[in-house]
Amino acid sequence: MGTTLQSKRVLVVGRGSGIARAVALLASSEGAELVVAGRDKDKLAAAYDDHGICIETVDVTDDASISALAERVGPLDHVVSTASARARGALPDLQRTQLQLSLDTKVIGPVMLAKYLSPQVDPRGSFVLFSGVNTDQCVMHSLTDANFLGYGCVMVEDCCATTSPGFCTEASVWNVKKCFGFVTDSGKILKALKK
Ligand SMILES: NC(=O)c1ccc[n+]([C@@H]2O[C@H](COP(=O)([O-])OP(=O)(O)OC[C@H]3O[C@@H](n4cnc5c(N)ncnc54)[C@H](OP(=O)(O)O)[C@@H]3O)[C@@H](O)[C@H]2O)c1
Repeated sequence: MGTTLQSKRVLVVGRGSGIARAVALLASSEGAELVVAGRDKDKLAAAYDDHGICIETVDVTDDASISALAERVGPLDHVVSTASARARGALPDLQRTQLQLSLDTKVIGPVMLAKYLSPQVDPRGSFVLFSGVNTDQCVMHSLTDANFLGYGCVMVEDCCATTSPGFCTEASVWNVKKCFGFVTDSGKILKALKK
């Protein structure tokens, strides 16, 4: 990625492992100044112990917590949210509160992050909100929801995948191209970022 993240301030919300950690450490290795935020500051501090990364607190289900983070964190270039409290389990065992929490952390909370943080994010910067990578399920439905909420949507075709039959991917890509936005690939994005 060359020097495109050099000196950029990047906020990553999530835990100290998984996707959040991979993104934080990659961005840091590309020269970005990292802030990581999660519910448990001590746990995060322990996870990033030797990386010189600034640790912050946020609960994406709590507007006051997000707004307080926005006040503390200062100007940013990019924001990534991986926060997720997935509702798992067999249907008979699922509770409404689990599903509500899942939606709150994966959809509503990240949008509230964008609301409170956008005044201090560079207009040339970005918000990347993870909620799933399954082409014909999580990606397709997050993308159509976002489209109907008025967002401009781009599906990065080689960054999502599915175990469904090939025609599901074909139909998803076709529908995004025809109705809900644009389709591109990571190579084109990286090329554009280097310009
Ligand atoms: N990993 C994959 O292969 C994969 C595949 C498809 C989709 N995805 C999607 O990509 C996203 C990130 O994946 P992941 O594997 O990194 O998820 P993950 O391991 O489940 O991590 C998400 C973390 O979000 C934090 N969190 C939960 N509630 C929160 C809240 N209210 N405020 C702030 N943070 C909160 C939790 O960390 P703490 O408990 O430490 O607070 C949780 O461990 C998810 O939406 C997931 O569904 C991942």
